[in-house]
Amino acid sequence: MPSGMPPCLIRGVRSVDFVVTNLDEAARFYETVWNLDPVAVGDDSRFFRGTAGYHHVLGLHRGAQPAVKRIVFDVADRQAADALHRAVTAAGAKSTTPAVLTTPGGGYGFGCKDPDGRNLAFVCEAADHADTADRPDRPRKIAHLNLNARDFDASLAFFTGALGFRVIDDNAPLWFLHCANSDHSSIVLAKTGLPTLNHVAFEMPDFDSVMRGMGRMKDNGYPIEWGPGRHGPGDNVFAYFCGPDEVPLEYTAEVLQIDDSYQPRPSTYWKFAPGRSDQWGITQPRSARYYRVQRLFGYSSDGDRLG
Ligand SMILES: [Fe+2]
Repeated sequence: MPSGMPPCLIRGVRSVDFVVTNLDEAARFYETVWNLDPVAVGDDSRFFRGTAGYHHVLGLHRGAQPAVKRIVFDVADRQAADALHRAVTAAGAKSTTPAVLTTPGGGYGFGCKDPDGRNLAFVCEAADHADTADRPDRPRKIAHLNLNARDFDASLAFFTGALGFRVIDDNAPLWFLHCANSDHSSIVLAKTGLPTLNHVAFEMPDFDSVMRGMGRMKDNGYPIEWGPGRHGPGDNVFAYFCGPDEVPLEYTAEVLQIDDSYQPRPSTYWKFAPGRSDQWGITQPRSARYYRVQRLFGYSSDGDRLG
């Protein structure tokens, strides 16, 4: 972090919650094909963990309209959660009061609606897991969320101002945002003019697990929509798919680990040669289907409430 900037109080993305139209089928997919482990069940919801410590990385909720219900960030303690609450309130975001949570995994935190209509939450003291060893072919955690921005300037100001993220690279229309961990980026803002989800990336333990995941998806009728490839900013290996309800998903690995000495670079540095969309130059361009679904998923109206 450059000197003079306050420390970012966000330690990473804990989880994402989706509204799904077929809860049983989506739960089957995320357990048996995407390779997450079930960790909690409700009447109309299911929760899944990765191999890292977070109580869960994915929540599924039964509903009529596919949507992002909520994006949950990890913070260290109540002091940090309360400080973030003051910051988002000062930035004009509608929020709930920080409180002990009754949602699976519990903890303490609050929810808010950001200036572009996203449902965000900030949680500490959750019932996280002690067993955190990698397992071959199974996702660890959410590596990053790529978020389309309707009002890009307001979104960037909120994430860098109220939430303390740092712009670590830009490759227009994508801006890569770093928080208080060693991953190159945990949030990407996409200047697309839309208030929707671009995609969710799950981190695999290694490159081989991404390749095996691609084969497993293909075997189960989920074609590879883009990849395999290696991105520029973040240097991560990628493969993209459309999951249940066509939600845009990514398997990734080998995310660049950085420290305060990292030098951000502008779009002019990152542009690939004509005809290429990654470092290796072997992947086809993303499919038309994937291009379409990267724009579809909005935020549910009630996701800012966190009980
Ligand atoms: Fe990604």
